[in-house]
Amino acid sequence: MARFTFTVIVVLCSVSSFVMVNTQGIRRSSNRNDTKQLRFDKKKGEFRILQVADMHYADGKKTPCEDVLPNQVAHCTDLNTSAFINRMIQAEKPDLIVFTGDNIFGFDAEDAAASMNAAFAPAIASKIPWAAVLGNHDQESTLSREGVMNHIVGMKHTLSELNPYDVDVIDGFGNYNLEVYGVEGSNLMNKSILNLYFLDSGDYSTVPSIPGYGWIKPSQQFWFQQTSKKLQKISKAPGLAYFHIPLPEYAYFDSSNFTGVRQEGISSASVNSGFFTTLVGAGDVKAVFTGHDHINDFCGKLTGIHLCYAGGFGYHAYGKAGWSRRARMVVVSLEKGALGEWGAVKSIKTWKRLDDESLTAIDGQVLWSQHSSGSRRKKPIHRG
Ligand SMILES: *[C@@H]1O[C@H](CO)[C@@H](O)[C@H](O)[C@H]1NC(C)=O
Ligand SMILES: *[C@@H]1O[C@H](CO)[C@@H](O)[C@H](O)[C@H]1NC(C)=O
Ligand SMILES: *[C@@H]1O[C@H](CO)[C@@H](O)[C@H](O)[C@H]1NC(C)=O
Ligand SMILES: *[C@@H]1O[C@H](CO)[C@@H](O)[C@H](O)[C@H]1NC(C)=O
Repeated sequence: MARFTFTVIVVLCSVSSFVMVNTQGIRRSSNRNDTKQLRFDKKKGEFRILQVADMHYADGKKTPCEDVLPNQVAHCTDLNTSAFINRMIQAEKPDLIVFTGDNIFGFDAEDAAASMNAAFAPAIASKIPWAAVLGNHDQESTLSREGVMNHIVGMKHTLSELNPYDVDVIDGFGNYNLEVYGVEGSNLMNKSILNLYFLDSGDYSTVPSIPGYGWIKPSQQFWFQQTSKKLQKISKAPGLAYFHIPLPEYAYFDSSNFTGVRQEGISSASVNSGFFTTLVGAGDVKAVFTGHDHINDFCGKLTGIHLCYAGGFGYHAYGKAGWSRRARMVVVSLEKGALGEWGAVKSIKTWKRLDDESLTAIDGQVLWSQHSSGSRRKKPIHRG
């Protein structure tokens, strides 16, 4: 992601408006009303999440593709990004679609609202619930970050929220959580057994002495911590976290300990905000999913938490010609009791699909399973 210079953008984005806090309560409830509670599917005892990272949508059929093979240039536009979403929906039948930021590439979008309407149209048409967070490019068109998130929150079938209604001050726009309830009719039907956290990882630093990208601020971490604590009192549900900019800890891996590829640097903030430590301390989050670095697509495990990229999805996003655009799936499966009744979460699996002729699935891995956790506690390395 080092392709775009910070200098210009920092000026544009330092318009931080913490004024409009807490206006979202009404919208949240009215919005929630037309979308049913997320819950595990009764037939398969599964919950399937499609992650779409970095669509970089601009103006639809007028917007050309980046980094495709010379023979692909002529017939490639944003519409190829839309077609890929449709193919993924058909192939994977997700229960939730998560867009992890840089949904639009603001610099090239004439009208942010129109661009978002087009970008999310396939999800809306599918009537599948969807959730989005912001990246660092979403606010570069005609709307501010707050404006973009507000627009998203008002769209059909989305479960996105501007910010938690019960928190007075929180940095960013698009911090919220979603609960996935147990199978209808089961003992866990009224309980969240899978917790999803969505955070705004910001765009660029607004602190003059700190260069580079934004980070998850203490106010957001505090909200996460409180929410996780509250939810864990109700049940020991595993959690998943989705945001845009990778944590500095993504740089702790090499090909010996990740699945997937690393073909560019890890474009985190230049400071470590401590969110990884906060996640480890909270204990429920088993995996983190980001985008931002389009040609990295790995998952690696550190201190019990998987750190995963999805790999770039959008055709107007930079990429690597000949290296397919891709998407990440997560499938959470329930355990089945002796009488055939569905229980709590048994395992969390992931894989990616490439936008090639057969939507090739690659890099399948188990991120977490009930039976291998708990008992296995690694000793800390003591280096004297
Ligand atoms: C949902 O809609 C109904 C009828 O329109 C209303 O009475 C109810 O308060 C709404 N519930 C929420 C949570 O917004
Ligand atoms: C983009 O879509 C067009 C029209 O369906 C298709 O002919 C072309 O092969 C696609 N390009 C890529 C790179 O997928
Ligand atoms: C769940 O809540 C519904 C509605 O309040 C109730 O009828 C049902 O008995 C509850 N089921 C369980 C297992 O708690
Ligand atoms: C991955 O392996 C490298 C050595 O190849 C090591 O330096 C690094 O600490 C390992 N990372 C993790 C997260 O285990």
